[in-house]
Amino acid sequence: MKFKTIIEPFRIKTVEPIRRTSFSERQHALLAAGNNLFLLHAEDVLIDLLTDSGTGAMSSAQWAGMMRGDESYAGARSFYRFEAVVQRITGFKHVIPTHQGRAAERILFGEAVNRGQIVPNNTHFDTTRANVENQHAEARDIPVAEGLQPALIAPFKGNIDLAALETILREEGDRVPLVMITVTNNSGGGQPVSMANIRATSELCRRYGKPFFIDACRFAENAWFIKMREAGYADKTPLEIAQEMFSYADGCTMSAKKDGMSNIGGFLALNDDALAQRCTNLLILTEGYPTYGGLAGYDLEAIAVGLEEALHEDYLQYRTRSVAYLGEKITAGGVPIMQPPGGHAIYIDAKAMLPHIPQHEYPAWALSLVLYLAGGIRSVEIGSVMFGLQPDGSEKPAVMELVRLAFPRRVYTQSHVDYLAEVLLYVNSIKTHIRGVKIVEQPPTLRHFTARLEPAHGALLVGLDSAEFE
Ligand code: F0G
Repeated sequence: MKFKTIIEPFRIKTVEPIRRTSFSERQHALLAAGNNLFLLHAEDVLIDLLTDSGTGAMSSAQWAGMMRGDESYAGARSFYRFEAVVQRITGFKHVIPTHQGRAAERILFGEAVNRGQIVPNNTHFDTTRANVENQHAEARDIPVAEGLQPALIAPFKGNIDLAALETILREEGDRVPLVMITVTNNSGGGQPVSMANIRATSELCRRYGKPFFIDACRFAENAWFIKMREAGYADKTPLEIAQEMFSYADGCTMSAKKDGMSNIGGFLALNDDALAQRCTNLLILTEGYPTYGGLAGYDLEAIAVGLEEALHEDYLQYRTRSVAYLGEKITAGGVPIMQPPGGHAIYIDAKAMLPHIPQHEYPAWALSLVLYLAGGIRSVEIGSVMFGLQPDGSEKPAVMELVRLAFPRRVYTQSHVDYLAEVLLYVNSIKTHIRGVKIVEQPPTLRHFTARLEPAHGALLVGLDSAEFE
């Protein structure tokens, strides 16, 4: 190609206005939300990077698919179309639709995981961990050591620690019902897992007789990184790479709200007939009949089209490039981030950026609040508020304190990203004025969604004139 600029590989047919707010409006909104960005009204957010889950823009082909949705209760045409696409990509025999990823987790773990057992994973994301713990089992994270060093640049920081996995299987194997790998590793910076690591995990699981499941939310982004970074894959298509990834596993859980490019949906796919039967029975009890599983026929159509669009090379190149573009701009301006940029998000290393805020005052949470106050940007803390509360009620600081800026798929353009960079660099320039926060109200599990917080020292920002922000 003669020209190097990577463009958004689409044109825009429908637009949704976003609203600017004043600094004092944002102050009031934050106060009303108990200093928890989850509790804001989305209308008070200018650029919403809370999550890449269910927030993407659908294509004209997906909307067209929705119009042909078959809403039959049983045996709908839309289900068979959905099933065929999932089977083509994953190769798994049984496809069980669910309303989103956590329902697939709940059903799988409900049937396969028992009290006192251990589920190893490169890193469990929040709901995955909570669903393991809901079975009174232990969710054990074993990422490779390099995955825990934000500044280190390495191609596959999402890998599972194979030596640690083998030790668990050898010494505590009787307590391991299944092994999981999350692609890409969301809690660990959206970092990819290599094909070699997936293959070696599969071999270990076979040797010890354990089923191996992939948490496949971002399988297409992971396939793209394998194509870009792993020897031997440059000439393969993302579909071929995804097919190989899944070929090493016995099943997967999937949130179609990510690389399914849909606003809702998910599935559990697996090969084991008996387990699939038990999961289907539980599905009927809690989600719906097996050919819709809590979804409308039109959702199944949107997912069937979306799963294929997520594997288009133009799309994957644009997507990973727009995330890296933000990463490069703010790295050049001195903002410490998880390197290299991940597939769906930039993760700011708040521990490195705000060394004056101790971990028990939640530096990443405080930073996420300031990003909102300064520029109307909504991000999410992936740190000690999200992961610090243990099942026994004690508090243990998270390994990393990250602020994730997750990119909805096909929603924002380059000027939005330029604006983000400007706000982030500004906040970096006032970072010594930022103070920590404390939790004043929290539920017993998944506290980050509903907890209320307050500044730990009277104010979130000290020594700054609010005129700065207008
Ligand atoms: N697994 C991973 C790795 C995830 O990132 C998520 C969701 C889930 C499972 C659960 O899927 O939301 O459809 O029930 N992650 C979103 C996020 C919410 O913001 O990263 P779900």
